[in-house]
Amino acid sequence: MKYKRKILITGGAGFIGSHVVRLFVNKYPEYLIFNLDNLTYAGNLENLQDVESADNYRFEKGDINDLSLVSELFHQMQFDGVIHLAAESHVDRSIHNPMAFIHTNILGTVNLMNAAREIWNDDLSKRFYHVSTDEVYGSLDETGFFTEETPYDPQSPYSASKASSDHFVRAYINTYGFPALITNCSNNYGPNQFPEKLIPLFIHNIKHNKPLPVYGDGNYTRDWLYVEDHALAIDTVFHHGKTGETYNIGGNNEWKNIDLVRLLCQIMDKETGMPENTANKLITFVKDRPGHDKRYAIDASKIKNELGWQPSLHFEQGLLLTVRWYLNNHEWLQRVTSGEYQQYYDKQYRGRFES
Ligand code: NAD
Ligand code: TYD
Repeated sequence: MKYKRKILITGGAGFIGSHVVRLFVNKYPEYLIFNLDNLTYAGNLENLQDVESADNYRFEKGDINDLSLVSELFHQMQFDGVIHLAAESHVDRSIHNPMAFIHTNILGTVNLMNAAREIWNDDLSKRFYHVSTDEVYGSLDETGFFTEETPYDPQSPYSASKASSDHFVRAYINTYGFPALITNCSNNYGPNQFPEKLIPLFIHNIKHNKPLPVYGDGNYTRDWLYVEDHALAIDTVFHHGKTGETYNIGGNNEWKNIDLVRLLCQIMDKETGMPENTANKLITFVKDRPGHDKRYAIDASKIKNELGWQPSLHFEQGLLLTVRWYLNNHEWLQRVTSGEYQQYYDKQYRGRFES
């Protein structure tokens, strides 16, 4: 079949990537969707079981830092678009091991752009979409919002690595006319998120009657966006955004951690049939995260006014869907917390292309 477009999605086995891959494979049968992911602890092919046999889907296990692999793939497949999500993504891990973040988030991004440049010759009909975070802007006090003009002020090794990759993407746009664009999004939540981030970790702990470790006094604020709304924003920006531009993506949905955790506890009590105020008792205030950013809040008016995207779900709806997904998929949760899920690739893929 001759495909209208061939799109490389990196990190497609991860949390957000899996929702983007599913959306694109189902919505655009005329596109070839190629997922490159090296399946770190956060990459789980079980997230894509429902699309793995689709005609317009391919998967390759590989590292974005592997120059010869990435360059060979570009030459062989002649991708005309890239949606780059592969990254190390957890702030707490970045505090313990910053090098992995420098390697994947910075060097990996530059490596991909170099491979794209080899075959694209900075042709403006191509498109390299770099998916980034609002954490590059640093921390806000009680008021104000991040806009696309807010100066970068990253505070954690994770956000410093993402900020650096954003700077490299902009440097390639400026220097070579490279056809790239960037989005900076707030905290995502929803199905398939590895249970180390706040919401899935706390759902998992409540299920197992384990303490809920709230960092510091819990008065830290994040803006939360349902992951499928982020995938729809990515679809919109990929097709209609202007190269050279940056767009902020957010949920217009700020929550102090402690208030969010109390709401989650209430929903969990109801959904698991426990008496009111059962899960609340597990809340445990623990030592703060070093360098903890106080508040993130996004002004997403540019993407709304210029491209017509806005979030579709209310937080209470999204949180309920998320809780139900984790409760209905306890085997998924059990396999990712035990490490068993990592055998999925061996079972499904190894040997598949050997004669
Ligand atoms: P994730 O950690 O769930 O998934 C990352 C994926 O990248 C995994 O499948 C992993 O196997 C893959 N990967 C990691 N290193 C790789 C490498 N060297 N080569 C190939 N693949 C590799 O992350 P996520 O939460 O889905 O985030 C995806 C992207 O969105 C990241 O770039 C992140 O910075 C950005 N982002 C995330 C959020 C959020 O709330 N999760 C918010 C804004 C932006
Ligand atoms: P997290 O989900 O790690 O995302 P990020 O650090 O990228 O915002 O954390 C969200 C918020 O929840 C953040 O303020 C840190 C806090 N947090 C806790 O209080 N306890 C936890 O166990 C975790 C993982 C996070």
